[in-house]
Amino acid sequence: MEGSLRIQGSKNAALPILAASLLCPLHCELLRVPRLSDVDAALSILRSLGCRADQQPEGVYIDSTEVSCCSIPPALMEQMRSSVIFMGALLARFGEAWLSMPGGCKLGKRPIDLHLTAMRSLGAEIETENGSLHCRAQKLRGSEIELPFPSVGATENAMLAACGAKGETLIRGAAREPEIVTLQAFLRAMGAEIEGAGSPCIRIGGLRPVKSLRFAVGADRIAAATFACAVACCGGDVELRGVDARQISALLHFLNAAGCDIITKNRVLRIRAQGRLTAVGPVVTEPYPGFPTDAQPLLMAAMLRARGRTFIRETIFEQRFRQAPELCRLGARIRVDGRTAEILGVEALHGAALAATDLRGGAAMILAALSAEGESTVLDEGHIRRGYEDLELCLESLGANILLEG
Ligand code: UD1
Repeated sequence: MEGSLRIQGSKNAALPILAASLLCPLHCELLRVPRLSDVDAALSILRSLGCRADQQPEGVYIDSTEVSCCSIPPALMEQMRSSVIFMGALLARFGEAWLSMPGGCKLGKRPIDLHLTAMRSLGAEIETENGSLHCRAQKLRGSEIELPFPSVGATENAMLAACGAKGETLIRGAAREPEIVTLQAFLRAMGAEIEGAGSPCIRIGGLRPVKSLRFAVGADRIAAATFACAVACCGGDVELRGVDARQISALLHFLNAAGCDIITKNRVLRIRAQGRLTAVGPVVTEPYPGFPTDAQPLLMAAMLRARGRTFIRETIFEQRFRQAPELCRLGARIRVDGRTAEILGVEALHGAALAATDLRGGAAMILAALSAEGESTVLDEGHIRRGYEDLELCLESLGANILLEG
């Protein structure tokens, strides 16, 4: 693979920001929002609530001045996991939200108990019945929220709800992901008094809303991780532009140990790989700044042909090795035992027909298929478009031979 690529804007930063645009009557312009089906789903939710929300080539425009309802239809809730973040925003603005259980990638059980506990700590009453959720709060009041696990979504939901509360809120045990820091920057631009994002303790003092704002979303660290792993899989010399390499240092550490050359300078990440890599590990997925669970299937793809055995332990999601049996169709040798996968590197992979199981698993299959001898097909029912803007065109621009059908 050869060439230079500008990395798309971050999906996981853009989605909570789209929900946050509901917090107060606002005209906002968001730059570098990627064109993805998850973003389409968030825009559909905003429109269903009465906002104007359009995605143009230059950016997303939202007018949330005239929101007419606080209920999200189940068909929209099911389209992605991030729909649940609208709960905090609706409660903050209207003191009421009617929702249902969110959808998203099937990675095992994905409860929302931490989200609900956080809302209840702020004074919300929540009734659940057959998957539907009715949340109400006469008045949200600032309080101390202790998260027993640093859930990204629950931290975001708590940040949004706390913006509508009277008094100060402290979120302890908060997630520290870069997307939380971006959400804080957006909330500040909206007029929120908030500090601490990036640390385990976030303090929110309330919101003195502005009427309009313009905000640019940063590069998608998992998209950057995907292309870095593509080079590790296939070999080559590629420049990824617009990337904050520190955000994926846990992955870059292993790619480097495996034999890739990595040079970072001024938001450009250059990665070079040649010949067979060496197995690394053990790799353990952890909350940020640990090794990201979203990069786990991608690193797995890069290790399929490495010399030696790689051990990967998945601690975040219950069932996040669903890509493994599909990768084995290419001739890979992977043994999964509960939360651990053992990859025995093989000399070569061969072409096969695979089916994408989820977003990052599907991307991993494409990377592995590119590094296999002969032709492969990856059947995808829409998982990959949820998170990647023109994945096949980007890979093609780096020299991959890939055709998207349908
Ligand atoms: C976010 C990211 C996703 C990433 C994940 C972990 C977005 C849109 N998605 O997902 O790409 O893989 O962080 O880095 O930003 N949990 C509970 N109860 C809860 C909430 C979570 O038990 O109420 C558990 C989950 O089941 C999971 C773990 O906590 O096992 C991590 O979940 P969480 O950090 O909330 O992930 P998401 O916000 O869903």
